[in-house]
Amino acid sequence: MKPIFFALVFIATAACTSQLYVPSEKNVNKVEPATLVELQQGHDLYLNNCGTCHKLPKPGSQTDIGWKKTLEVMIPKTKLNSEQSYLIFRYLVNR
Ligand code: HEC
Repeated sequence: MKPIFFALVFIATAACTSQLYVPSEKNVNKVEPATLVELQQGHDLYLNNCGTCHKLPKPGSQTDIGWKKTLEVMIPKTKLNSEQSYLIFRYLVNR
């Protein structure tokens, strides 16, 4: 992929989501088993699907159980499947 693509993604990410953590090794398997790649996928899915109707809530704004319940209500508002939902869940709780 072209470097410009990464540059644009970086700018977009930095501009809209300064509050959102970017997954790193220290988040791997923290609460729920998840690889770094899975956390990065969850991060991207969260960014791209959960901020269309309202501002993106911070991962720390809900408890782990709270996120489970919230996702049960919010995922049906998106076109995401259960696998993608679980990726988002793991991103949110491995903060
Ligand atoms: C189609 C629009 C829509 C999409 C897409 C959407 N939401 Fe929401 N969300 C809402 C509305 C409307 C509310 C407030 C009313 C309610 O609680 O149902 C809300 C409320 C919330 C709240 C606050 C709940 C509370 O208890 O205070 C959280 C957290 C949330 N959404 C997370 C998410 C996440 C995570 C996603 C992505 C999986 C998402 N939303 C996608 C419409 C949406």
